[in-house]
Amino acid sequence: MASFTLRVNGEPRTVSVEPDTPLLYILRNDLELNGPKFGCGLAQCGACTVLVDDKPVRSCMAAVSTVAKGRITTIEGLGTVDRLHPLQRAFIAEQACQCGFCGNGMVMSAKALLDRTPRPNDRQIKQALNGHLCRCASHNRIVRAVHRAAEELRAAGRRGAAVRATGPPGGWGPQARGERYEQTPPAEASPPNKEMRP
Ligand code: FES
Ligand code: FES
Repeated sequence: MASFTLRVNGEPRTVSVEPDTPLLYILRNDLELNGPKFGCGLAQCGACTVLVDDKPVRSCMAAVSTVAKGRITTIEGLGTVDRLHPLQRAFIAEQACQCGFCGNGMVMSAKALLDRTPRPNDRQIKQALNGHLCRCASHNRIVRAVHRAAEELRAAGRRGAAVRATGPPGGWGPQARGERYEQTPPAEASPPNKEMRP
């Protein structure tokens, strides 16, 4: 046994485990973070994907000793129920999850993609999500959801830039008043996808 203090979703979490314990087991069994899923356990399906230093990692095959020094982000660290990340909102709006089992991995890899490529094309999205298996065949909706989230994030970036460019020192608006700044308002509900209609 060895003791590891992991940085998970911005918080230090100490566990005593064997050094070769897969990160996924620690997240789910010790830290009660059940967003990452156990699918194949062989780094083949992507359901267990988390970010380590902003890069997608298949946590079912990542020994804790190899990732202990990194910043670990799980889907629980992206948003909350009250304040979802744009990707989470987009997946809901586009009905991109049917059973939802692949959703965690798709969202985490999409997050890594949008961090480095704010305006991805179809090919780039498919490339980033290649290797994530979806047995429900939600692939087209997932691609649409990533485009939707990218658009929302770009709009939020433009609003942030406008605030920085035109606001007085110290800022103005909700932030200056000490109010919580909702950078990305909830997306409006979208109409059902065509293929879902009877
Ligand atoms: S459970 Fe890790 S890739 Fe399938
Ligand atoms: S939505 Fe079911 S596996 Fe992808």
